[in-house]
Amino acid sequence: MNILFVCLGNICRSPIADGVMRQLVTEYALDWEIDSAGTGGWHAGEPPDRRAIHIAKRYGVDISHLRARQFAYDDFKRFDKIYALDLKNLQDILKLARTDEDRAKVELFLEAAYPDRREGVKDPWYDDGLFEPVYQEIHAACDHIRQRLTILGGSR
Ligand code: 4NP
Repeated sequence: MNILFVCLGNICRSPIADGVMRQLVTEYALDWEIDSAGTGGWHAGEPPDRRAIHIAKRYGVDISHLRARQFAYDDFKRFDKIYALDLKNLQDILKLARTDEDRAKVELFLEAAYPDRREGVKDPWYDDGLFEPVYQEIHAACDHIRQRLTILGGSR
């Protein structure tokens, strides 16, 4: 299974989800490939925001080696699951979809974890105090998604 997390800049929320899910994949010995991207390309080539690196490191997740990249059409072919971190990201990804198969791969991140939560993860870019709650929210949601995908028989 190949899983992609997508936010706006690919330097705050999606790299955290990427690192957290990689840690879960290791912990549960899953054969899943994890990656992340941004709908915007302004930060392409950059490491995650230092505040994102810092909060993840506090919980034993190293995301300092990740580099931002922009979401591209080819990602629909490379990934089985594409999780949008907020509703605008979801809309922007779906604008690039060409087939029903492409569209079927895309889900809102929190809704995939908790079917009654049709909302986005808040963007912490302008608010240092959001990194801690955003990390916790992303960690809990990633674990729910891991459980749901495992139950659905997606351990490979
Ligand atoms: P992210 O946060 O989408 O969680 O990576 C942002 C990072 C950068 C910007 C916006 C959001 N920006 O406007 O540059």
